[in-house]
Amino acid sequence: MIGDTMDTATVDKTTAHNEQAPRSSSATPQTALQQALTSADESPERVALEVRGALPVWLTGMLVRNGPGRWDFDESEVNHWFDGLSMLHSFDFADGGVNYCNRFVRSNAYRAVEETGKLGFSEFASDPCRTRFQRIQSMFSPNVTDNPNVSVHKFGEKFIAMSEIPLAMEFDPNTLETVGVAFENPDMFASAHPHQDVEHGAMINLSCKLGARSSQSFFRLAPNGKPQRIAKFNRRMPTYQHSFGMTDRWLILTEFPLVVDPIDILKTGRPFIENFQYRPTRGTKITAIDRETGKVGGVWEADAGFCFHHVNAYEDGEDLVVDLCRFDDASIVEQLYLKRLREDGSASIGHLHRYRLSPGRKRADEKRLSETPLELPRINYGANNGKAYRFAYGVSSTDEYSLNMLAKIDVETGESLTWSEGDCAVGEPVFVASPEQRSEDDGVLLSVVLDGSSGRSFLLVLDAANLSEIARAEVAHGIPAGFHGSYVKH
Ligand code: CO
Repeated sequence: MIGDTMDTATVDKTTAHNEQAPRSSSATPQTALQQALTSADESPERVALEVRGALPVWLTGMLVRNGPGRWDFDESEVNHWFDGLSMLHSFDFADGGVNYCNRFVRSNAYRAVEETGKLGFSEFASDPCRTRFQRIQSMFSPNVTDNPNVSVHKFGEKFIAMSEIPLAMEFDPNTLETVGVAFENPDMFASAHPHQDVEHGAMINLSCKLGARSSQSFFRLAPNGKPQRIAKFNRRMPTYQHSFGMTDRWLILTEFPLVVDPIDILKTGRPFIENFQYRPTRGTKITAIDRETGKVGGVWEADAGFCFHHVNAYEDGEDLVVDLCRFDDASIVEQLYLKRLREDGSASIGHLHRYRLSPGRKRADEKRLSETPLELPRINYGANNGKAYRFAYGVSSTDEYSLNMLAKIDVETGESLTWSEGDCAVGEPVFVASPEQRSEDDGVLLSVVLDGSSGRSFLLVLDAANLSEIARAEVAHGIPAGFHGSYVKH
């Protein structure tokens, strides 16, 4: 079963490139990943997609996805994959068919680009050109972006788009039109990966304050409520945090050693992430915090490394188990600079690691669960988040291409199943549970795939049990490589 490739059909790379997706005129054919880094125009009119295969009759909700759609402006461009303008995509299932549209979020960041042809606000790895005077001004009122290009969530009755920015943006799920600011975070930055706090009908998120007194905080936010701080940790050199873990009782703060001295953000004038330094000698610190009381239940040490995404965490007797996609170091941040990625067409992917945290022990017990690389991980969240589980899904890479394979890892046995088809760049596979839920993996995976041979994208529907293809819905153009999505029932 290990490394089983479900579909090894060879795609004829000599077939004509389609006219709707003009690509580079360079003689070297571009990989699917390179093509997926092409800026796109929005297509807000809903169109019915041609479906090959038969969609499950119970699949009647909507997949909404988020990610950068435009990196190149009239007068300038951004530096990094993470810096593009937020484009929302909707795949709306009904009557065995699927309708698709996409639209840019009308943030102030978007409007600045429309009006000036240039970046107007500070993004992850790009800053607008500033005069010396403007730089001094911005020290006192940071010009942080409102470009919410990372994830989407249903929060109460609202649909929101999020990124590591001071606010969440509301949008209309039917038209993808921007409604406005949904809420502001208690601190300047917050993760785009909040967890659902079902008991309180709220979300829990991790925020970071950078300044003379920096801190990481967990907070709880109910729709129409005010943020309530659960716990706060003062940090002189805060770590970069993209996500966190959560069990039934505990919040898990995993601090890998990519750290920033906040004064550098003011001093250097460099884009946000370029002020962070990788300090492997610090190792990694994992803290468990009681969800209700905010009290620390334990702190463990582990080897250095880096991670964007926690996968799951749960209590196993007295122990805590924390699974995440781990990189050996933080060089992935540099690998994802746009120029490099567009030229090279490849990026490395981390591996699924498990940390076992035992009471009375100082060090976490760490092990790699599978040799199959995994990123943009998903699980059967509704049934298994915070609980013992068996399966993780995500994007992976073959030896030949990057991010061109989907993988399912059995976290108990380490065995994996994969799907790939020549050079097709794959997106995060969102797990949708079937209504019967006969088993943890009874459902489908939805992934937006760009076919390198045609330059067009399709929505791939796989059986989550065995990664066999159930159906695909063809889009008339390429969809830029995005980050995260949510499936919502109607
Ligand atoms: Co993410």
